[in-house]
This record gives sequence, structure tokens and C-alpha cells, in this order.
Amino acid sequence: MHHVRSNRPALRAILVACTFGVVGISGFVGIQASQARQPPPSSYSPVVEEPFATVMQRKKSAKAGIAQRQAELLRARYDMANRAAPGITMSGGKAVQEGVRVKLAAGMDWDALAAMGPDEIRAKRAWPAGFLPLPHPDHAEGGMVFPRFHIDEIKRQEQRDLTRFDLDFDLPDHFLPEFPAPIFLTTRPDLGDVSQGKLVTIENYYDLFNGILNPKQLEGLRLLVTPFPQQQFNQTADRRTERPSRGVVCFDCHANGHTNASTHLVGDIRPQQFRHRIDTPTLRGVNVQRLFGSQRALKTVEDFTEFEQRAAYFDGDPVIATKKGVNVLERGSQVHFMAEFEALLDFPPAPKLNVFGKLDPARSSESELRGQDVFFGKGTCSTCHVPPYYTDNLMHNLKTERFFEPQMVNGRMASADGPIKTFPLRGIKDSPPYLHDDRLLTLEDTVEFFNLVLETKLSAEEKKDLVAFMRAL
Ligand code: HEC
Ligand code: HEC
Repeated sequence: MHHVRSNRPALRAILVACTFGVVGISGFVGIQASQARQPPPSSYSPVVEEPFATVMQRKKSAKAGIAQRQAELLRARYDMANRAAPGITMSGGKAVQEGVRVKLAAGMDWDALAAMGPDEIRAKRAWPAGFLPLPHPDHAEGGMVFPRFHIDEIKRQEQRDLTRFDLDFDLPDHFLPEFPAPIFLTTRPDLGDVSQGKLVTIENYYDLFNGILNPKQLEGLRLLVTPFPQQQFNQTADRRTERPSRGVVCFDCHANGHTNASTHLVGDIRPQQFRHRIDTPTLRGVNVQRLFGSQRALKTVEDFTEFEQRAAYFDGDPVIATKKGVNVLERGSQVHFMAEFEALLDFPPAPKLNVFGKLDPARSSESELRGQDVFFGKGTCSTCHVPPYYTDNLMHNLKTERFFEPQMVNGRMASADGPIKTFPLRGIKDSPPYLHDDRLLTLEDTVEFFNLVLETKLSAEEKKDLVAFMRAL
């Protein structure tokens, strides 16, 4: 969603005029006029009347300051060092980052924090800043933002430029999923990774998949790598690319059917400061899931596929979508084909798991087995993360707002998250950062987070074992 601030004075003048028209009758002049000085937030994106060159110039000059503000926030919250866990890699070989990265206040330690409980943590303002919702790189502006490595590869293959003139992606590469990620098909497990180490695009999808997919799936894949207009990437003057853009493809975020951690703002919430930053979830394993979207809980892959391009691409604003060239996918011949391909994307192999999704003792370490016991016992994790895929296909409200007072963080109103989807933990080491808004960088962070949220008071040893177990999933 765009906040073109220079439109505000004109809007305000109109509002003031309207308000006075009404209050002349009602008589509440003072109250109404003071409200009119702060116009209520609108559900609609403002219409851009400024020349493109003026907007671009202004946004470009603000870019460095915005990046700096976000970098300072990240540095204050997290230890951002590149520290790989020895010998632990994602399915394609990228190092997994280790250690708790959320910083604690001076003099605090995790056990002391866990001993306090929600009320005391809130009263003492001891909730770690890294456990608060993470704002978008520019929350007031929002929109899709892609990591640099993806932008470079798309430029190389397709000469399509996903660079925004106003914003860059904010998290360092070592905290992101591997790129390009391997692709495993539910229909052809015998083939292993079918990506051949390439990023699947409109240039190569046919050569890579002809003979492996049926024609319907191949056509679905073509649509998943075909660009369609979007809020920031389109051909109108209301865009955030220097040159008019053909748009984005599904796999610009769900790269190779997995994720490259591209981010944007959820379309469902108003006003802007309440919208959640959202981390692109992997599409691996959508075939066994029953709810889609961190909050929408749409019921089918088909529904989400249709919704993405029609609604999420345009921040849930069909008014602006028409102007920018929304492509309405036809349900029977296009949405179904795309969804059929999406449902072929399998979780990565987990050689230590048996048919129930539990560890095979013969293949597992002592620490992993102890971690499994904590997961199913004292940690209570399995109440929601149910094997074999480690999801209950439900939403849960973790009520983190018990631990802090509502507060503004770089344009994001950090408050209650509401019910969020229980994301599956199968293949979880391949999908950092964690939680729906990217707020946690490592699995160790998720263990500290849930230890507080669930008030489980795990020991240091139990926490270490839990991480070992999750790396085996
Ligand atoms: C900004 C990059 C981006 C693009 C482009 C994109 N998605 Fe997504 N996708 C996301 C994010 C972020 C979510 C999580 C949405 C939420 O939490 O509400 C998501 C969620 C989904 C889900 C639900 C996954 C789950 O685990 O609940 C499906 C299915 C999906 N997208 C398919 C698609 C398809 C099909 C396209 C192309 C039409 C597409 N996406 C384009 C970022 C993207
Ligand atoms: C009450 C249900 C519930 C319990 C119990 C629970 N979780 Fe979760 N888990 C969730 C929900 C809901 C999310 C998504 C939260 C979000 O994105 O904001 C989640 C997300 C996660 C994620 C990140 C997933 C991703 O894709 O980003 C990890 C890792 C995780 N949980 C681990 C654990 C561990 C370890 C435990 C036990 C110590 C645990 N969970 C207990 C509901 C639960």
C-alpha cells in the first residue's frame, strides 16, 4: 500500500470542508474540527497524482535513511554475526546458523526471564525486543521486497529487474534459505532434487520439466513463472521500479517452490501500522495442509493461488488492481493447473524419520532422541506440531501480548498477533527466518520464544536437545 504523503494536505482540506458542512448542523464544531486536523485512516490506497519523476526523486533521497533506521533496529534486537552450526546444513548444502540471536537486556539471562512469568515480564519491560513483531523494511510504504541474490539471477536469466528504487531487503543472506533451493517431487521421489541446481524461470522450466510432469502440470508451472502486474511492479506511474515492469512471478518469492524469504505486508488488515510483515512460506508440503496463509486460513491451495494474484498482489485493494492491470486467473483451466503443480512439491528427505514421523533410534543421536522426548513431553510442542508433518492444520493464538505493552516500532504497531497458522516443522531447518513475520533468525531463538510463551521452564540441556531434534525433521 502506498502512502503518498503529499496527497494529504489536499485530502485534509476536503475533509475539513466536509466536516464543517456537517457540524454546521450538528453543532459540535470544536470536536469535529480537531478530529478533522487528523483525518481518520482510509481503507483505500490514495490515488497518485504526482509526476512519476518527482515521486522517484523523493523516495530515492529518503532510501538511505530508511535502510539505516531498519539496520539500527536489527542490530539492537539481534546478534547478526555469521556463525554456522558445524556440520549442519540445509538439504542443498547451505550452512545452518546456530545460537540464540535475540539479545537480552543487560544483566538478564534466559533462565531468570523464564522464572518471571508474563505479568512480571510486562511490568518490568523485560520482553526481548527481538520477540516483538518485526516491521517491514519500510512499514509505512510496504510492498514486495526481494533479496539481492534473487534480483541478480532474474536479471541475468530474464532481463527483468526486480530492484525497487525506494527500498532494499533488510536481512543478511546467511540467515536466509539456500538459493536456488532443491526441488523434490511427491510423484517422483526416485529422482531426488530435480532442479539441477538452477533457479526455475520462464527461460528454463520447459527444458527442466518436460518429460517429468504431465502437460497440465507443465502449464501450471508456466503460469507460476509468468510475470503479472503487482502493486510496486507494474507499468503505471504508481510503481516502485525505474522502468515500467512486466510484474512478478509466484516463484520470485516461492523460489523453486520453496522460499527465498522475500517479504511484504499482509493485505487483510487496516490501518497500515497494524498490518503484519509476512515472510514467504515454503510451498513444500502444501499437499498435506488444510489451511493457507498465516491469518486468512483459506481452505484450499486453489483458493490461495487465486487470492494471491487478485488480492494479495494489490494489498487487498481491487480498486487499484484494475488500474494496474490485474490478471484474473480462470479457475478451471489456470488456477487448478497451478495448484496441481504446487501440490507436487514435497518436503525434503528426512532419513532419520520412520513412517510415523518419529526418530528411528538406530539412525539418531542421543541428543536428538532426548529432544524428541522434550518435544512430546515437557515442552508440549506436539500439542500443536503433530507428526508426521508436525502441524495440526489449525490456527493458534499464542497471546504474546501478555508479555508487553503495545508500542510503535518503526511504523509498526506491535500488539496482539491474533490466531496464526501452525506452520509444519518438517524440513524446518531449510526455512529460516522463523515465525510469520521473520522475527526469529534461528531455531535456538524459536526454542527460547516458546519456552516463555508456553511457560515450560526448560533447562539449557533440554533446549539444546530440542534444537537437535528439530534439525532432524
Ligand atoms: C511477495 C512474494 C510472493 C509472491 C510473488 C507470491 N507469494 Fe505466495 N505467499 C507469500 C507470503 C508472504 C505468503 C504468506 C501469506 C500470509 O501469511 O498471509 C504466501 C502464501 C502462499 C500460500 C499459502 C502457503 C501456506 O503455507 O499457508 C500459497 C499456496 C501461495 N502463497 C501461492 C502463491 C502463488 C500461486 C503465487 C503466484 C500467483 C504466489 N504465492 C506469489 C509471498 C508471495
Ligand atoms: C499452542 C500451539 C503451539 C505449541 C504448543 C507450539 N507451537 Fe510452535 N508454532 C505455533 C504457531 C501458531 C506458530 C506460528 C507462529 C507465528 O508464525 O507467529 C508456530 C511456529 C513455530 C516455529 C516456526 C515455524 C516457521 O515456519 O517459521 C517453530 C520452529 C516452532 N513453532 C517450534 C515449536 C517448539 C519447539 C515448541 C515447543 C517448545 C512449539 N513450537 C510449541 C503453535 C504452537
